[in-house]
Amino acid sequence: MIKVGLIGYGKAGMAVARVLASTPGVRLCWIAKRQIPSAVDAWTVEGVPLISLTAATLEQTLQCHPVDALVDFSSAAALHIYGELVRQRQLMLVTAISAYGEDDQWYLQDLGRDTRIMASPNITLGINFLILAARLLRGIAPFADVEIIEQHFREKPEISGTARKIAASLSVEEERITSLRLGGIVGQHEVVFGFPHQTVRLTHDSIRREAFGTGAVFALQELARRSKGCYSFDDLLMQKIREGLLAG
Ligand SMILES: NC(=O)c1ccc[n+]([C@@H]2O[C@H](COP(=O)([O-])OP(=O)(O)OC[C@H]3O[C@@H](n4cnc5c(N)ncnc54)[C@H](OP(=O)(O)O)[C@@H]3O)[C@@H](O)[C@H]2O)c1
Repeated sequence: MIKVGLIGYGKAGMAVARVLASTPGVRLCWIAKRQIPSAVDAWTVEGVPLISLTAATLEQTLQCHPVDALVDFSSAAALHIYGELVRQRQLMLVTAISAYGEDDQWYLQDLGRDTRIMASPNITLGINFLILAARLLRGIAPFADVEIIEQHFREKPEISGTARKIAASLSVEEERITSLRLGGIVGQHEVVFGFPHQTVRLTHDSIRREAFGTGAVFALQELARRSKGCYSFDDLLMQKIREGLLAG
């Protein structure tokens, strides 16, 4: 059983909490956010205590409700509130924060000397798998044409960051990205490989934010089997695939 404290209870955190609370082998013990409006809200719908995140409240919470891991869906600033407690208590950390600065990245690497860390600005299993599969195919068939198509809801103004990441990982120009803005599409990314006599399409559809929770659980389960270090989602996925191939 992996006992977890969740940091952040916003749009993503609430969906992640639902997944953590309903996954066998994982126990969601408490949730921390910046502010708690009133004592009435001191329990979440998942039936776990809700705390306001400061170093003092966290230390107190870890005494009463010890956990094996923290999962962070809050903001970059929270890392510096809980970082040293993670180190001292050798907690695992899965952080999904996408806006870490260079200093934060160094700090995460440093924490990885003392405990197990997974930090990824993209935590869905599906997108990470798509990127890996696309990289493999690109390596096998560098002569194939590559196009990336991303589709999102009408109001999304900018090119998808994930599409740009896919382009970078395949070493193709961002001009190869086509963005379609249509109605209420949550998010679709497609990589099309054009061969002379065949076409391969790799597609990922986002359906619900709970997918972030599925990725966090994957990372927790993989970290629990690993030694100290600061890993990316890709590292964990690659190791898992390698083990699967060797076993098969
Ligand atoms: N890697 C991925 O695939 C992925 C996917 C989704 C989201 N994310 C990341 O997850 C984070 C949250 O996204 P969101 O859409 O859920 O945002 P949101 O709706 O604004 O929610 C943020 C939550 O974090 C809490 N929080 C913010 N700063 C905090 C701090 N210093 N200490 C404690 N709690 C703090 C907020 O508390 P209050 O409500 O009290 O202010 C709120 O509960 C963002 O960094 C986003 O980039 C990453």
